[in-house]
Amino acid sequence: MIDLGCAALPAPEPWLTRSVQGALEALPPYAHTHGDYPAGLPALREMLAERYTARGIPTMPEQIMVTTGAMGAIDAICHLFAGRGERIAVESPSYANILQLMREAGARLVPVAMAEGLAGWDMDRWRQVLRDAAPRLAYVVADFHNPTGALAGEDQRRQLVDAARSAGTVLVVDETMSELSLEPDLAMPRPVCGFRTRRSTVITIGSASKAFWAGMRIGWVRAAPDVIRSLVAARAYADLGTPVLEQLAVNWLLNTGGWEAAVDVRRQQARENRDALVAAVRRELPGWEFEVPRGGLTLWVRTGGLSGSRLAEVGERVGVRVPSGPRFGVDGAFEGYVRLPFTVSGAVAEEAAVRLAAAARLVDTGAGAGAEVAHPFVA
Ligand SMILES: Cc1ncc(COP(=O)(O)O)c(C=O)c1O
Repeated sequence: MIDLGCAALPAPEPWLTRSVQGALEALPPYAHTHGDYPAGLPALREMLAERYTARGIPTMPEQIMVTTGAMGAIDAICHLFAGRGERIAVESPSYANILQLMREAGARLVPVAMAEGLAGWDMDRWRQVLRDAAPRLAYVVADFHNPTGALAGEDQRRQLVDAARSAGTVLVVDETMSELSLEPDLAMPRPVCGFRTRRSTVITIGSASKAFWAGMRIGWVRAAPDVIRSLVAARAYADLGTPVLEQLAVNWLLNTGGWEAAVDVRRQQARENRDALVAAVRRELPGWEFEVPRGGLTLWVRTGGLSGSRLAEVGERVGVRVPSGPRFGVDGAFEGYVRLPFTVSGAVAEEAAVRLAAAARLVDTGAGAGAEVAHPFVA
């Protein structure tokens, strides 16, 4: 099976091994404590705060909570802000697992359609939806959006913050993909929270999963100190805290320059994979349409009128796992799409495209009846 379910890459060695060795060396003083740090290790909170400050967003350690991945961050945010029946505005399409997490928290999702291609955020639409629905939260992935790969420009960022403030909506910005720029000459826009005004609430989420390795399960939240205190209380009955050793490993990476070196490896891998996948899909499936994103880890592909759900189901049978478009939508939207991540290269990317083309032929001739096997791991 060629698994294109998860948009996540293998660990960038030797940095995983080195960071774990560094963590082991730093561990002894922590072994004398109770080991429960519901807001995160002070050293890592400080380090993450310094990094925001260096990006032009002055941040104190009290504004940071370390979480169990970005998923843990969103879970705590939903607990705190979006009780049962509360509305959350989401990009349509958006990241499948977070949509599902929000549904399971009992939230009512209010989809805001993304513009075609890589244009991303249609601000007239956002303003109207936020004004009309006045949702409690709005969740956006402004940096290399999953699944489309779109990157919000500074004007879109400013307007998103402004529209959320006018509607009294808390803006949650997921920066999980932010370090995965794949073009050396691409100037990254200022972080969305840099456009915050005094009366707006912007909560930023980060993660080591895409920049480094999903197996670390380290994420974080940046918000006002009072929001962080409430989030720490909100997570208390879920996971109590994030493993100390992994926090020390990320802290080691951030302190030694290992993080930057690992991100470079990541970008190189992702760039090569993207180019291989794009070439293979263009060759094997010339009727499928997509834009080539300048960063992130995913291609959002229109499947020439074929059902994405049936492609996913038949793909399982011909040896390629892909999540269908509706996993990324609200109420069955995006049936004519699949998401392809840049996780395979060279001959494997070519074989993946060959298998997808075989699945497409079966679906096209009606031989692919059945329901998508809802494989849980869509990252
Ligand atoms: C936009 C986005 N947010 C969050 C996640 C999950 O992140 P984590 O592994 O840190 O929980 C992913 C993983 O694919 C993602 O793409």
